[in-house]
Amino acid sequence: MTVVSVLNYKGGVGKTTLTANIGAELASRGKSILLIDLDPQASLTFSFYEPEVWEKSLAYERTIQQWFGSLLNQPTADPLHQYVVTPPAVNRIVQANGGRLDLIASHLDLVDVDLEFAHRLGGATFSHVSPNFLRLHRSLRDALDAPAFDAYDLIMIDCPPNFTMTTRTAVVASDYLVVPAKPDYLSTLGFDYLRRRLSMLITEYNKAVSSPAEQINPIMLGIVFTMIQYGGAEPIIAQRGYLERPTRIEVPRFDQTLRDSKTLFGPSSEDGIPAVLRDGGNEIAQFELQQIASELYAKVRN
Ligand SMILES: Nc1ncnc2c1ncn2[C@@H]1O[C@H](COP(=O)(O)OP(=O)(O)OP(=O)(O)O)[C@@H](O)[C@H]1O
Ligand SMILES: [Mg+2]
Repeated sequence: MTVVSVLNYKGGVGKTTLTANIGAELASRGKSILLIDLDPQASLTFSFYEPEVWEKSLAYERTIQQWFGSLLNQPTADPLHQYVVTPPAVNRIVQANGGRLDLIASHLDLVDVDLEFAHRLGGATFSHVSPNFLRLHRSLRDALDAPAFDAYDLIMIDCPPNFTMTTRTAVVASDYLVVPAKPDYLSTLGFDYLRRRLSMLITEYNKAVSSPAEQINPIMLGIVFTMIQYGGAEPIIAQRGYLERPTRIEVPRFDQTLRDSKTLFGPSSEDGIPAVLRDGGNEIAQFELQQIASELYAKVRN
């Protein structure tokens, strides 16, 4: 079982879009994939479920919010697999090739969980000397370490655009990290900040565990550039410099990038089927999504 977190401090850079599409693409190739929505905006969840269906059948008992609630309010958290759901529309497509796409849905009230987490940790600084530090930080990691999750080829976690406790539980649970980014000035600034926060968290966590075997070392797979604008065959000049930046600061990046496509991503995913699997979209952008999925899968299988 392999866990990949998709994160960036910066909002609106394509985290959710990539998570949904890479998951759907790999499932359509016959893989078993679990996606976890850790963002209170619940965009990933609403990529697969209509809000009315979510409200009726998931919101009150089958989301990550209730699971975190069980962690905070019970001596032992509920088994996480009880919260896994199988979105019907996308699975009707991927099951033709023996694939499966499962989801742990999110909830708009997940913000309250973050506040409660901060309270339990004695403030927003999350010091590793807090007695709750380890239990809370490793909660998702421990929960995913159950036999029920062994059957998945890949687990992907869609993080919110911040570095609060829910994101921190995802980082601690991860074998790999992927950072979507737009090739622009603010996104590059955000990356440096994210890198510092990641390294502080990993250092603090590894100080808190009792044995070297429990230490974490999530591997940065790299930046995936999204929303590339083309003028002819090349990205526009304003973006080219930023595309080179990862190499200059010695951060890995994916070879494949994703272009800006209003035709593919403009229509909302109300039908519960991610763009990569939809008929009649922008075929070049769909091909790019397929290539990103292949690149990611090859990196985590090496
Ligand atoms: N390649 C693309 N071309 C055009 N639009 C895109 C592309 N990728 C994503 N979008 C659109 O941009 C918006 C932001 O994308 P998305 O929700 O994936 O970003 P995010 O990083 O998850 O945002 P947040 O930080 O709010 O969670 C969405 O409306 C999405 O449909
Ligand atoms: Mg998102």
